[in-house]
Amino acid sequence: MSSQNGASHNGGLTLWFTGLSGAGKSTIAEIVEAELRNRGLRVEVLDGDVVRTNLSKGLGFSKQDRDTNIRRIAFVADLLSRNGVVAITAAISPYREIRDEARAVMRDRFVEIYVKASVEECARRDVKGLYEKAFKGEIKEFTGVSDPYEPPLDPEITIDTEAQTVQDSAAQVLAYVDSRVQVPA
Ligand code: ADX
Repeated sequence: MSSQNGASHNGGLTLWFTGLSGAGKSTIAEIVEAELRNRGLRVEVLDGDVVRTNLSKGLGFSKQDRDTNIRRIAFVADLLSRNGVVAITAAISPYREIRDEARAVMRDRFVEIYVKASVEECARRDVKGLYEKAFKGEIKEFTGVSDPYEPPLDPEITIDTEAQTVQDSAAQVLAYVDSRVQVPA
């Protein structure tokens, strides 16, 4: 568990990124991952797109399947973070209730990071070309277009990727981690 000042006892934390597709979760998570490794911490990333090719292979985007996906990610992040690893998750995780479930399990190891960008901006970026298809109705239940996204009410960190650079966003997360984790000597 944690000491009174909130520092993580064994360095384990879960950095739980949440936000729309294309908001910047994976990009920021990758930079944070590399920086934390450089600092000598043990880090693992559970990226939504990657998890869906293995741990959650076969799941779709109904509420039930998304909830299953997020519960699996939370389960693994809990195992890692309670054993001194910084677990970084980067899935949309659109439902507040399931994120709060993960928080309840991991308690003060859980750091919720809201990667904020409007649907309009994500659609303008449309890195994967999915928004265009979603607007045409070619992809059903698309988060932010035809499926809900429930933003966090009280996240530990909010990143506004319409106003901040990727580097600034990563630095903001790293500063928070530095305040919580003692870097090994
Ligand atoms: S979550 O809702 O279960 O957390 P997850 O992060 O794993 O979602 O997967 C989201 C990714 O799947 C998106 O970045 C996008 O590439 C792809 N995707 C395909 N269909 C959908 C959809 N209907 N809604 C959202 N993302 C989708």
